[in-house]
Amino acid sequence: MSAAAPSVAPAASGSVAPLPAGSVAPAAPAGAPLRLDVITIFPDYLRALDLSLIGRAAGEGLIDLHVHDLRDWARDRHRTVDDTPLGGGAGMVMKPDVWGEALDEVLALPADAAAARESAAGRGRRVLVVPTPAGRVFTQRTAEDLARADHLVFACGRYEGIDARVAEHYRAAGIEVAELSIGDYVLSGGEAAALVMIEAIARLRPGVLGNPDSVVEESHGASGLLEQEVYTRPVAWRGLDVSRAWPALLSGDHARVARQRRDRAIARTIARRPDMIELLRPDTLDAADRAALARGGWAVLDGAAGPVELVVRPAAEADLADLVDLAARTFPDACPPFLTAEQIARHVAAHLTPGRFADWLADPRVVLTVAALGRDATTRGGRVASGELIGYSAVLIEPGDGGAPPPGLDPRPDGVTVPAAPDGGAGLAAELSKVYVDARLRGSGTAAALLAQAVRAAAAAGVTALWLGTYGANRRAQRAYRRAGFAGAGSRTYDVGGRICHDVVMALNPQEAAGEH
Ligand code: ADE
Repeated sequence: MSAAAPSVAPAASGSVAPLPAGSVAPAAPAGAPLRLDVITIFPDYLRALDLSLIGRAAGEGLIDLHVHDLRDWARDRHRTVDDTPLGGGAGMVMKPDVWGEALDEVLALPADAAAARESAAGRGRRVLVVPTPAGRVFTQRTAEDLARADHLVFACGRYEGIDARVAEHYRAAGIEVAELSIGDYVLSGGEAAALVMIEAIARLRPGVLGNPDSVVEESHGASGLLEQEVYTRPVAWRGLDVSRAWPALLSGDHARVARQRRDRAIARTIARRPDMIELLRPDTLDAADRAALARGGWAVLDGAAGPVELVVRPAAEADLADLVDLAARTFPDACPPFLTAEQIARHVAAHLTPGRFADWLADPRVVLTVAALGRDATTRGGRVASGELIGYSAVLIEPGDGGAPPPGLDPRPDGVTVPAAPDGGAGLAAELSKVYVDARLRGSGTAAALLAQAVRAAAAAGVTALWLGTYGANRRAQRAYRRAGFAGAGSRTYDVGGRICHDVVMALNPQEAAGEH
């Protein structure tokens, strides 16, 4: 067969609806249109491309779409395109000779003349796309790559697929061949997959989307995150009130909304696609991102390729020796520089003893939490084994009945007020006595994860005032506490090994904070 004209041209401009009044006209195309040829035994299947965005883009000359009937290249009376599989087996296989004639002709069709002129190769980048469940998975990255081509030819197989020599032949002939699957399931043919790929590719071409910003923040975009939930009016619908669930969204504070959107995108990706979290690049994650990841149980380690899953769990008796060791190792890190090694050692020997940790493990008014990594990881500070304790926190709850306090509970500073419980009953205070993280994990978000867990545990225990004291010049620690929702609540003095230190006191109400993130 020769000179096959497209048998169906589904996106002719005559079938495209005019833009609705008031809508924004798409920007003019930055370059030549993308030529798309689809070869199929069901040309009508592709009529869906006549509709909506892609149909409009074709009508405006942004894409140049042609659909061909494979049977036009069959040579027998019955227009046969398939035969039984060599070696036996179920189904039918599409014939290489018919496909060869079709593809020779369609691949030779000229892409836009301007693109051909601009291209170093003389005819632009041309890709033969073969949809198949046995292909590489088509992703947003694939769409971005193919959107940069000049000419895409889709070969839609049916039955058991196309004779494997077809892809082999064109690859050997120097044609770029992409055998692509749209997911791990089997369709009856490549047409639905081609529709999916064409829509994903075409909307990335310049001018196709009315608002090009739409592709910047969407799921699977450059951020590597799923997009956060979106809402519109009415603000309250069937008892679901966005102003209550996400008050900042209506605040008009754009920076705050942007931050919270990103936090929610991170939380959603953690819940639905943890595989995407592992692929995030640490250099794209700021401190607030790391805190959001940590709240969801992921640490970003200095020197590691991507985030590592954290295990944050209640401490158990078996942790005792490791806990004592970790406490002695981490306490000096948070000390003011003027404290001597002897003063620090005296404090550790008096307060961070095996007896103290054993008492805490046995005391229901003490919430002792530990953190470890879910897998081995290499950090700039050295190797960290999976399961090794890398941080801990301790919340000491005041006895509500005026009984003996848990050992180590410091006097509650004057600036800390204890709000009533949400039901109007008496409030309850607790000291966040410890949040310490191994120095190798500094900046990883592990402290934020322990903090978030401490706040959740305090909320569950009915605490309405969770307070802490931290060395006044330790701004890094104060920033981390502020990010977790703590606010200044005064000051106190604190004795470390006989030396008096001036602490900042911070507090939050866990009953309010627990619903925030
Ligand atoms: N043809 C049949 N199933 C397919 C899939 N999952 N992706 C692409 N093409 C297909």
